[in-house]
Amino acid sequence: MRPFDHAGARRAAVFLLLAAVACRTSAPSSTVASMTRTPFGTTPAGEAVELITLTNSHGVELRAMTYGAIIVSLKVPDRSGTLGDVVLGYDSLAGYVKSSPYFGAVVGRYANRIAKGKFALDGTTYTLAVNNGPNALHGGLKGFDKVVWQADTAHTAQGNRVTFRYLSRDGEEGYPGTLAASVSYTLTDANEVQIAYEATTDKATPVNLTQHSYFNLAGSGDILGHQLTIHADRFVPVDSTLIPTGTLAPVAGTPFDFTTAHAVGERINASDEQINHGGGYDHTFVLNRPDTGLVLAAVLQEPTSGRRLEVRTTEPGIQFYTGNFLDGTLRGKDGVAYARRTGLCLESHHFPDSPNQPNFPSTILRPGETYRSRTTWTFGVDSSTAR
Ligand code: GLA
Repeated sequence: MRPFDHAGARRAAVFLLLAAVACRTSAPSSTVASMTRTPFGTTPAGEAVELITLTNSHGVELRAMTYGAIIVSLKVPDRSGTLGDVVLGYDSLAGYVKSSPYFGAVVGRYANRIAKGKFALDGTTYTLAVNNGPNALHGGLKGFDKVVWQADTAHTAQGNRVTFRYLSRDGEEGYPGTLAASVSYTLTDANEVQIAYEATTDKATPVNLTQHSYFNLAGSGDILGHQLTIHADRFVPVDSTLIPTGTLAPVAGTPFDFTTAHAVGERINASDEQINHGGGYDHTFVLNRPDTGLVLAAVLQEPTSGRRLEVRTTEPGIQFYTGNFLDGTLRGKDGVAYARRTGLCLESHHFPDSPNQPNFPSTILRPGETYRSRTTWTFGVDSSTAR
């Protein structure tokens, strides 16, 4: 007779307890968590686009569409409980199709820049479109932000989830290999958006995916008064075309030291060569990483609304971009002109130009491997404890 499996029984008991807790967290709710899919227009090429709306039991709402896997709006409470949209974007598909600096989009196949639009891999040189000064930026002329993804929705133990899938063919935008990519957004009852990317390929290729939402936790105005902490002792210095010089520099004693909270605007006009190159902040920070897995990368707080965002990621870096290229010509939601620095991005990814930088962590995905990357955005108000 088999001896009684005490460990197994304990595991089963723990599982039942966790399952009960999971059910319980969604039970006492002011609203009912829901998920809907609605048509959201048609691209100029005639492809139908859908909008998926996820809500949680606190009324937090994330709307994302199949075009670019774009997060169109994200409504979270301020300290008095009033929901406000904290991301820049447009009211309709047409705005995104016409002209968008990657508002809310998933950027790929390679987020950020590749110098001169060229890289060599396994003895072959690949040429990409040069679409940003002398360099390739954000996946090319028609990157992942401008294609229509397939959507699946699911109610999961963590919360309502939408998963977008896109098959990028071999040679698309100059990249080698057919890449099957997916990104999912899960909205939890802890007011957290969990972002998970996966990709596989049939030929070696660089892959670097990110989420390009522009945050404004006040919902309007500029972002200069937001308080930011970035858990990075080093950053990636760049040349005047925003290509890394190849070294990693300490932030100590520079305007890039966000190891303790600083207002975004406090040092943004400093006479500093790196600030000049970016026209503000447009740099990758090298995250302090005591271990693998999710680490707290950044904390953003907005004093007036009290809203707070914590960003955690499995990536080695985070691009802090202060919307320096916004110039008031784009009219976004409700016709608001998006002036310079009215939104900021915290793009978790690998370092720019990694395919040409032998000392940077590799971004090459090979057949048989699975690219996996996770980032979470946890929203709260200023009483939370993480620093
Ligand atoms: C990234 C880049 C910026 C800019 C924006 C989009 O954040 O680093 O230089 O290209 O995307 O405008």
